[in-house]
Amino acid sequence: MDSLLLQAIKYLKQGEIVAAPTDTVYGLFGDATNDDAIQKIYRVKGRPSYNPLIVHVNGIDMAKTIGQFDNESESIANYFWNIVKKPLTIVLKLTNNNISKYVTSGLKTVALRCPYHKIAIDLISEFNGPLAAPSANTSNKLSPTSYSMVKNDIGHKIPLILDGGECNIGIESTIIDLTRKPYVISRPGGVSNEDIEAFLNTNIVFNTTNNNDNTIIAPGMLKKHYSPNLPLRINATAPQDGEAFIAFGNTNNKYDANLSAIGDLYEAAKNLFSTLSKLDNPNKYNGIAIMPIPNFGIGIGINDRIKRAAYKQK
Ligand code: TXA
Ligand code: MG
Repeated sequence: MDSLLLQAIKYLKQGEIVAAPTDTVYGLFGDATNDDAIQKIYRVKGRPSYNPLIVHVNGIDMAKTIGQFDNESESIANYFWNIVKKPLTIVLKLTNNNISKYVTSGLKTVALRCPYHKIAIDLISEFNGPLAAPSANTSNKLSPTSYSMVKNDIGHKIPLILDGGECNIGIESTIIDLTRKPYVISRPGGVSNEDIEAFLNTNIVFNTTNNNDNTIIAPGMLKKHYSPNLPLRINATAPQDGEAFIAFGNTNNKYDANLSAIGDLYEAAKNLFSTLSKLDNPNKYNGIAIMPIPNFGIGIGINDRIKRAAYKQK
């Protein structure tokens, strides 16, 4: 086994927490059954305790020891985790008493996800148990999609970051709550609603409402989230004085950044957080403006993130 992976497993067994890449964004991993480790995750992120964490597993067998599956939830997990290998997190009834109550914020349900990434899967498999992981950033700040983004944000607070280069997807997993009928998408993300509806062959409900900061129905859907330090202006057509400008698609002008010059929403998602991070420089700019992003497919997940990133507290 790779020596850094071995070191990571050692830390996890000791109740330490480590950052590692996944297919979506970098995660901050800790033993899901260890209260101390989980409390460390909340402390390092400055995350409110009412916002539960996703439990990461290496496949359906491990997931079955934690959540209550029926035929349909099993076929959904199998399709998205094993066949198309897309980032779908499923919320099920919790059946395992060993999962720390801090992971679920005391809820009777649990969010389960099988990341499609060798390092993340090796970590879970070698640890041989479920690992809770939020994104590896300070709460409300930009989600990290590279080793250096994690290092610059929380690197000084954790013993180890495994380097897996840039994450492929770039925005977090889509979360579907299978404990409610019809099923509810409580966070749009790296799998499009269209992909999910096509597989299920039925309509799903989208939870698009912004909850107050401490309601628990769709915890984590905070109005302000994923934010750069500079103010962000969305649906912009041109930069204003002193603003950094992020384009999308083929433009005549050369701007500070373009999420995807060919107008590819997957490429745009992959570039989103790293681009915001690169331009988030108060010495150079007084704000960041971003062009409208088409609101279909994975664009719904991108728009969710930038709307929250731009949210101004009243
Ligand atoms: O792509 C991802 O999902 C990344 C990588 C690291 O796997 N993780 C991630 O975790 O985005 P985090 O902590 O930033 O977001 C977890 C989301 C929150 O919105 C939380 O409220 C929701 O999952 N969640 C966790 N448990 C839940 C539950 N039982 N019911 C509903 N939502 C839940
Ligand atoms: Mg996060």
